[in-house]
Amino acid sequence: MDRKFARYTVTSALPYANGPIHIGHLAGVYVPADIYVRYLRMKDEDVIFIGGSDEHGVPITIKARAEGVSPQVIVDRYHELIKKSFEDFGISFDVYSRTSAPIHHETASEFFKKLYDEGKFVEKTTEQYYDEETKHFLADRYITGTCPHCGYEKAYGDQCENCGTSLSPLELINPKSALSGNVPVLKETKHWYLPLDRYEDWLKEWILKGHKDDWKTNVYGQVKSWLDHGLKPRAVTRDLDWGVKVPVKEAEGKVLYVWFDAPIGYISATKEWSENTGKDWKPYWKDKDTKLVHFIGKDNIVFHCIIFPVMLHTEGTYIVPDNVPANEFLNLENDKISTSRNWAVWLHEYLEEFPGKQDVLRYVLTANAPETKDNDFTWRDFQARNNNELLAIFGNFVNRTLVLTGKYFDGVVPEAGEPDGETRKVIEAMTGYPEKISASIERYRFREALNELMNLARLGNKYLTDMEPWKLIKTDEEKVKTILNVSLQIAANLSILSEPFLPFSAEKLRNMLNLPQMKWDEAGSAGILKAGHELNKPEFLFEKIEDAAIEAQIQKLMDTKKENEKETAVKPQKEEITYEDFMKMDIRTATILEAEKVPKTDKLIKLKIDTGIDQRTIVSGIAKYYNAEDIVGRKICVLVNLAPRKLRGIVSQGMILMAEDTEGKLVFVTPSEDIMNGSEVK
Ligand code: MF3
Ligand code: ZN
Repeated sequence: MDRKFARYTVTSALPYANGPIHIGHLAGVYVPADIYVRYLRMKDEDVIFIGGSDEHGVPITIKARAEGVSPQVIVDRYHELIKKSFEDFGISFDVYSRTSAPIHHETASEFFKKLYDEGKFVEKTTEQYYDEETKHFLADRYITGTCPHCGYEKAYGDQCENCGTSLSPLELINPKSALSGNVPVLKETKHWYLPLDRYEDWLKEWILKGHKDDWKTNVYGQVKSWLDHGLKPRAVTRDLDWGVKVPVKEAEGKVLYVWFDAPIGYISATKEWSENTGKDWKPYWKDKDTKLVHFIGKDNIVFHCIIFPVMLHTEGTYIVPDNVPANEFLNLENDKISTSRNWAVWLHEYLEEFPGKQDVLRYVLTANAPETKDNDFTWRDFQARNNNELLAIFGNFVNRTLVLTGKYFDGVVPEAGEPDGETRKVIEAMTGYPEKISASIERYRFREALNELMNLARLGNKYLTDMEPWKLIKTDEEKVKTILNVSLQIAANLSILSEPFLPFSAEKLRNMLNLPQMKWDEAGSAGILKAGHELNKPEFLFEKIEDAAIEAQIQKLMDTKKENEKETAVKPQKEEITYEDFMKMDIRTATILEAEKVPKTDKLIKLKIDTGIDQRTIVSGIAKYYNAEDIVGRKICVLVNLAPRKLRGIVSQGMILMAEDTEGKLVFVTPSEDIMNGSEVK
């Protein structure tokens, strides 16, 4: 480390509590962060590792709306699931909090209030997109459209996920409401803005000058490009009802922008940790000798390198991050991971389907981490890395060493004699590993670090193979003692150095070697295990993963693919009909006069319709898509000469024309312009 810090605050992006954790989250954020903090703890550093659920924002409310439940139901469900799966996977948070916690609402609110009172915001009344049907202002992910920079058609109002650019809704081409699909209108509203443009010089000095050499090139490059383009003030309040209430009178009914409150969640979580442990939280956020590190995915770079640092800086009492080691994305079997398309390997399912194999996934995700470019996870690679690397190199070396020691020396560490040339070289090489692995970890190069760890296992494996103690035992027992002593020292070193990467296997290995958990700096020595030390019975560290298990996973993904194709496929055209067939249908324009939900049903609405011909009752199965109160007055089209049918005891006289998509969603078919009721549709 270039500079000695008194303590470390390590944060990992707070996942949205709108779905479970998948391998993309793990590879991008949580596995590298966990390796880093486990390493720091072994170095005896003072470190806290912060995590928690991000429970505000549009991703949550969209999910709640889709399921027809309140946002609280969604976040409760996923917070618990996420928390438990992280625990079972060995992500060693010191605290895992959530942004719906009262301590967070207080902390975020106070933070805003302080900046507000000090005049750090700019107030602006502007026109914003508004969905007249659902009566919502359309911020962030409530609006989609075409990205003005790359042409991607599904860009969000706050960001294009294709090119990473941060956007505002007004920049989108062909904007559409994500709630109704409608083209939005503009409506005035007042908001508070963080004037990022005023901090450009500070940001340039701090990042472009100060972190040119120690920030990852992908992170530095993105930040530089934003700064080169110039920053704009950014609204930090929203017209939504789910979130942290803006704590000033004139902003009643508004909440904080999720990207204003969520990163403050790191601070709130630290306060929660402080309440749990009785330790002071302040030095971890306010002392200049603290190293603050944010682990995130690349879509979070702007928020952690520009917006949140500006907030911290302008607040005045906080430190800013020393590094933001963002990763690129992990794909799955050559396709973008997607929660909505169910294209993912879900952590909670993996833990059930591969019990006891946390380290295999940790290994594969680290060996293949998307550190400098997007990478691909495939189940075949997963199998190969387990069978050919973990098992064949690491596991095999440890197992041979322990089995031979059991066989020749009753499981007692033999005394080493004078080493020969080859042995001396091996010892010398071994001594260098802690330093090599440290250097890589401290530069956030976890793949490289893991590869060095495996090189140590390779060294041991090759040593055994070259020395052939199983042959020598007949002629030179003294030499075999030396060989196994040295091999055991390598195994002991592996048990220390593998802990950050493979914590479950490291523990197993410690138990076999009958060693306590040791410090990082105790590694590198050829005298960890003393002669005469008794070992425990060897077990297998890793197991072969059979083809059947892999094929089952691949099949599962193929099923998902089929399922997705079914859903997006437009129904094929029906059988041909004649003009006369069509003309038998009498379709008229009409207006909804009254609407009420049919009691004890969840689909049906009873409507009174003005068809121009008469006023009549029609029962329609649209309650999942429309509220009765909202549709009175709507212009529709009705098939009026359909034979009457009785539904739930009500006679329905006709059918309302609806368009139905492949997922069964229904919308009214409406005359495109105003026209009198009773006009014929043909
Ligand atoms: N929930 C965000 C995401 O998944 C990350 C929030 S990180 C925090 O992209 F800093 F805001 F907490
Ligand atoms: Zn784009």
